[in-house]
Amino acid sequence: MGEDLSLPALGTLETICRELAVQAGELIVRERPEHLAVADTKSSATDVVTIMDRRSEQLLQEQLRARRPEDGILGEEGASVEGTSGITWIVDPIDGTVNYLYDIPAYAVSVAACVGDPRGEWESVAGAVFNPVSGELFHARRGGGAFLRSTGADPSVTALFVSGEQDLGQALTGTGFGYDAAKRAQQAQILTRVLPQVRDIRRAGSAALDLCAVAAGRLDVYYESGLNAWDRAAGQLIVTEAGGVVRGAGAQPSRDLTLAGPAVLVEALHDVLQSDPH
Ligand code: IPD
Repeated sequence: MGEDLSLPALGTLETICRELAVQAGELIVRERPEHLAVADTKSSATDVVTIMDRRSEQLLQEQLRARRPEDGILGEEGASVEGTSGITWIVDPIDGTVNYLYDIPAYAVSVAACVGDPRGEWESVAGAVFNPVSGELFHARRGGGAFLRSTGADPSVTALFVSGEQDLGQALTGTGFGYDAAKRAQQAQILTRVLPQVRDIRRAGSAALDLCAVAAGRLDVYYESGLNAWDRAAGQLIVTEAGGVVRGAGAQPSRDLTLAGPAVLVEALHDVLQSDPH
């Protein structure tokens, strides 16, 4: 495929990621219904969709179709467009939907431009994650570094770097849980192995923001099993561009496992996760 992946071309993709994440993020705050209800459920009764997940994805899809008609799109709420350019946009219209439902200000819109097969092996080349409540916009393009832009009344840009912590015993560790009860029981068991070996655990409720927290050194390390491509596509690039490592049980993150942080902590946590529980 002949897609242009030079830094300037990736800069164009990164700008689109930033603009659309902010546009959709502003929509979900501005037009949030006063009495927000669950519109539907997906994999389980607690895996919810709101009307605003759908409206946010619709906006993202319309904008991408207008701006990048040859690209593919994969979205959490069903967007699925085959492209011809070699670029696919992987979008999460609200990551942290349960937080959004409860009005807990830890949710985000995630937009990433990727190469490869979005349902197989793919790689993010540009991405942005926007928390519309804090006004924090995290973004990166491959080879260009990772940045946090504050979009409030006092705009600023900061380069991001993962934590310098080397000792897993001192590591503030983020994780999350899936929506399936059997899966959660497994995750709870794994947690009993991890918790005694780390400083403490945080479960914020948005994988995209967790990955950005790792990039910003607000979490030392993060792991989760069961993530979908849209949960991690932008965030994992932001971590690697902030000097971190993202891997799975093997070299690549996958639905089975995503681990993110400084290399030393990722390897130490990987060893704990893979150790025999008996
Ligand atoms: C979820 C969040 C959560 C993570 C779940 C995801 P959603 O995404 O990222 O933090 O633990 O695995 O499914 O459903 O809010 O888009």
